[in-house]
Amino acid sequence: MAAALRLGAVFFLLLPLRAAEPSVELAASAASPAAPPEIRAAARARTRSRPAPVTDVAKLCVCDLLVAQCDVNCCCDPDCSAADFSLFTTCSVPIVTGDSHLCSQKAATYSLDVEADPPERIFKLIDQVNPSVFCIHATNYKQALSFSSPEIPTSENFDQLLKQFGSASFSAEPDSWNMNTDAQNPSDANETCRYKYGVPIQTVDAFLRLPSPVVSSWCSDVNPAGFLVNQATKCTRSVSVEKCGNIQAVSMLFYINSSILAVPKSSQMVNITVQSIVVQSLNGMRTLLNGSDVLRLPLILDELCINIVLGVSYHITYTDAGEIIEAAASFVLGAINKEVLSIQQSFEISFTQVNTKPVPLSGNPGYVVGLPVRAGFRPQGSGIIQNTNKYSQLTILQSTSNQDCLAAQGTRTPILFGYNMISGCKLRITADMKCQPLTQTLLDLLKGQSFPEYVASFGNSQAQDVLDWVPITHLHTSEQSSCQIPVSLEIEVKWTKYGSLVNPQARIVNVTATIATTTAKQLPSGRERTIPIISSVVFTDSSSPAEPGYKAWPTINAKLPFDFFFPFV
Ligand SMILES: *[C@@H]1O[C@H](CO)[C@@H](O)[C@H](O)[C@H]1NC(C)=O
Ligand SMILES: *[C@@H]1O[C@H](CO)[C@@H](O)[C@H](O)[C@H]1NC(C)=O
Ligand SMILES: *[C@@H]1O[C@H](CO)[C@@H](O)[C@H](O)[C@H]1NC(C)=O
Ligand SMILES: *[C@@H]1O[C@H](CO)[C@@H](O)[C@H](O)[C@H]1NC(C)=O
Ligand SMILES: *[C@@H]1O[C@H](CO)[C@@H](O)[C@H](O)[C@H]1NC(C)=O
Repeated sequence: MAAALRLGAVFFLLLPLRAAEPSVELAASAASPAAPPEIRAAARARTRSRPAPVTDVAKLCVCDLLVAQCDVNCCCDPDCSAADFSLFTTCSVPIVTGDSHLCSQKAATYSLDVEADPPERIFKLIDQVNPSVFCIHATNYKQALSFSSPEIPTSENFDQLLKQFGSASFSAEPDSWNMNTDAQNPSDANETCRYKYGVPIQTVDAFLRLPSPVVSSWCSDVNPAGFLVNQATKCTRSVSVEKCGNIQAVSMLFYINSSILAVPKSSQMVNITVQSIVVQSLNGMRTLLNGSDVLRLPLILDELCINIVLGVSYHITYTDAGEIIEAAASFVLGAINKEVLSIQQSFEISFTQVNTKPVPLSGNPGYVVGLPVRAGFRPQGSGIIQNTNKYSQLTILQSTSNQDCLAAQGTRTPILFGYNMISGCKLRITADMKCQPLTQTLLDLLKGQSFPEYVASFGNSQAQDVLDWVPITHLHTSEQSSCQIPVSLEIEVKWTKYGSLVNPQARIVNVTATIATTTAKQLPSGRERTIPIISSVVFTDSSSPAEPGYKAWPTINAKLPFDFFFPFV
C-alpha cells in the first residue's frame, strides 16, 4: 500500500506544472539564429524568465518503498543512514531524472564508493541535456502535452453538444398547448415563424383536428393534431342512413376543407391533397380507387349510404425550419345500411422531414463509449431517415423526482453507447381506468414519441447504406388474459469488437426491445393501486475472446552440419 502511494506521488511530481500563462517553447524555434532579432530577443527574454521546474530530482526516489525504513540498496532513500549505506552492495537505482521532454534537466546520480572503509554513498546532481530537436525548454501547460478526451454527452449537455456539433434547428422541448403564449412573449417574436414540437397545426379557420375518444369512446372533434406528434386514434360516431348527408364528420370534405398554414399565423397556405381512396364494401372487401384527388361525398343509394369516412390518415411533410410544405390525406370510405347506428372511425397522423441533415457521428468507425446510439426509420424503398431531433434517437424514459409516470411522459434521455441504464416511475391505477387507453398510455410512456426501427451498427454508418443498420427486434413476454398492460421495456444492445486486436472498434450487431406485460385486474370502485413501470438498457459484449492467429504453427527447422558426427561415422 505504501509502495502504491509513493509511486503515485512520484508520477505526480514528474509533471512539472506551473499555473502561469500557457507556453511551450520548442528548442528549434527558440534558438534558431535565422530568426529576426526581435524574435530572438523575445525568445531570450522568455528563456530567462523560464519558470524553474517544480521537480526536485534530489527528492525523487522510486525505490523507496518502505515508510520510515531504509530500503536495501536504495541509495536515494532518505531513511538510510551512513551505517545502512556501508551494508549496500550496489545502488538499485543509479540515476533519477525528471521529465524527459525537457531540453535540459537535472539528474541525480547515486553510486557506492566501495574503496572507502566503510563503503560510502556518492550523490551527484548533474545537468543532463536532451539532444532531441523537439525537446521542450519549459512547460507549464499540461494540456498541450496530450490529447484531451472529448466531453461525454449527458442529458444536461446533450443540447449544447448538439448545437456545437450537429447544428440542429429544432427546439424539441414540448411546448405548451396554448397557442397564445408565443404572441404574448415579444422576446421570441420570430419563434412564431416556425412550428415547434407539440404546437397545434393551424388551419385557415382553427386547427387541424384529429378526432379522438376524449371522455368516452365517442369521437370528439376538439383534439388538435400537434406538430411532430405521431398519433393514431379510434372512436365511434353515431350515424344513420337518413341523416348521412348532413353529418359533416362522415364527409371527406370535413377533413380536407381548410388549408393548413405553412407556419403559425402565416398567410401562406398548404392545401391538403387526397393521396389515395380505399373503398370498403359492406362485406368488408377493400379496393383501391385508381383515380386519386376525387372528392366522393356521402350519397344515399338503394337504401344504403355510401362514401362515408371510416378512416383518415394524414401525412405531413415539413422542413428543418419547422415549416409545413405538404399535407396529404388517405381515406377509407365505406357504406352503411339501415341497421347500422354507429361506425368506428380511425385517424392517424405522421410526419416526415425533408432534407434531413446528417446526425452527428458517434464514432469513426466504431462506437465511442458515452456517445448516443444512432437510430432511424426506414420508409418503404428509401434509405434510413434520421432526425436531428433528440427524441427521434434511441431514448429511454427519464426518471423524475416525483416518480409520477404521467408527469414523466415525454421526458426522455438518449441511450449512450456502453452505459447500462435503468429508469422508472410509478403509475396510480384507479378503478375507472379503461384497459385499452391505459395500455396505449403506457406504451407511449415506455417507447416514447416515435420508437426507431433501426440502429446504426457503427458510429459512422451512413443513412444510405441500409445494410449498415440493424433492425430492432421486438419481443413480448406476456401472460394470457383479457387485459394486459405493459410494465417494462428492456432494450438489449449486443455489440462486438471489430477489426484489429490493437484498435478494436465497437460494432452493434443486435438490438432487442422486450416489453413485459402484466394482467390488470379490474379494481373495485374507489380503490386504487400503484404499479412500478421500468425501462432499462443493457449493453452486452458478444465478442468471442481473441486468439492469436498463426497461419501455421511455427516448426523448428533444425539442420545439423553434414560433418556433425565426423569422428564417429
Ligand atoms: C429571428 O429574427 C432575426 C432578425 O430578424 C434573425 O436574424 C434570426 O435568424 C431569426 N431567428 C430565427 C430562429 O428565425
Ligand atoms: C368547406 O368550406 C366551405 C368554404 O370555406 C364551406 O362553405 C363549407 O361549409 C365547408 N364544408 C365543410 C363540410 O366543412
Ligand atoms: C389550394 O386550394 C385552393 C382552392 O381549392 C386553390 O384555389 C389553390 O390554387 C390551391 N393552392 C395550391 C397551392 O394548390
Ligand atoms: C382502374 O384500373 C383498372 C385496371 O387498370 C381499369 O380497368 C379501370 O377502368 C380503372 N378505373 C378507373 C376509374 O380509372
Ligand atoms: C437478434 O436476437 C434475437 C434474439 O436472439 C433474434 O430473434 C433476432 O432475430 C436477432 N436479430 C437480428 C437482426 O439478428
